[in-house]
Amino acid sequence: MVNIEGAMYHLETYPNEYRNLMMLIYDKLGPEDFGDCLGMGKCGTCLIEIEPGIQLNSFDRNEDTTLTKAKLDKGLRLACQILIDEHINGITVKIISP
Ligand code: FES
Repeated sequence: MVNIEGAMYHLETYPNEYRNLMMLIYDKLGPEDFGDCLGMGKCGTCLIEIEPGIQLNSFDRNEDTTLTKAKLDKGLRLACQILIDEHINGITVKIISP
């Protein structure tokens, strides 16, 4: 589920349809000003909040540089750095306006 300003959207995909969560959200929902660097991990416009306790793929160097440690600790991630795999099945994310 994707939460955009309180509206909830259910998204489905299959393996290898999208290279990351940002591309899935961008293609299916097209939020305004989302994913400006098209997945380079540098613009920060794909910032999302992950529900507590969910373990996803670890941060890469670009994400670690773009986000501060404090943001990472609060469960904020860059959707472009989250892989589409079994770990995101059934999770809810909230898009954070830049
Ligand atoms: S699309 Fe730019 S940081 Fe994710």
